[in-house]
Amino acid sequence: MLHSYVFDAYGTLFNVHAAVRRHAGEIGPDGQLLSDIWRAKQLEYSWVETLMEVYSDFWVHTERALDFAFQKVPSADPALRQKLLDAYWRLDCYPEVPSVLKALKAEGARLAILSNGSPAMLESAVKSAGLDSVFDNIFSVDEIRKFKTHPSVYELVTTAWRVYPEAVSFQSSNRWDIAGASKFGFRTVWINRTNQPEEYSDYPPRLILPSLEALPATG
Ligand code: LAC
Repeated sequence: MLHSYVFDAYGTLFNVHAAVRRHAGEIGPDGQLLSDIWRAKQLEYSWVETLMEVYSDFWVHTERALDFAFQKVPSADPALRQKLLDAYWRLDCYPEVPSVLKALKAEGARLAILSNGSPAMLESAVKSAGLDSVFDNIFSVDEIRKFKTHPSVYELVTTAWRVYPEAVSFQSSNRWDIAGASKFGFRTVWINRTNQPEEYSDYPPRLILPSLEALPATG
């Protein structure tokens, strides 16, 4: 078994659509569309800023992306803005996450999060999911003020842990994040939760799993 496991946060451990789902009744029929646009824009802003060599933290992008999404989805009442933003600090984790992480921990593995999220966002999400005692490190891109897929993001782990990239198993549900991590040299596991088609074929994952469930057995 590999000793060092690093997890992406949003989409991999925490369900980014849980905020909208929690208020689905009030939002109405276009909740999924609102949530999809919110997520897509949040990521786009992070990539565009990194290319421009400027940086606002992920919470700023999360707020601005929601404001854009409300404008694109007029059926959703923008008065729900604050409720949705508050819910983003307490996203549900996926059901298998606590048991998988605890099993890895019990086997002696070193565990971390590596995320675009700000330290405050990550601390809140981890705490509300009851995972605060599981992680050895929570690495936020905030330290280097560049977002994934900049190689210096993945380097945060190898520098802090003094390991070669090949010694790290990196799990993400975001295929573009897996591309960045594979290019960096991590052993990557794409958690393809929603049965997405393969892409970024120059930078393939080492393994594809439908959830984190099988991870302890396969690492
Ligand atoms: C993260 C984003 C990519 O947690 O979901 O880094």
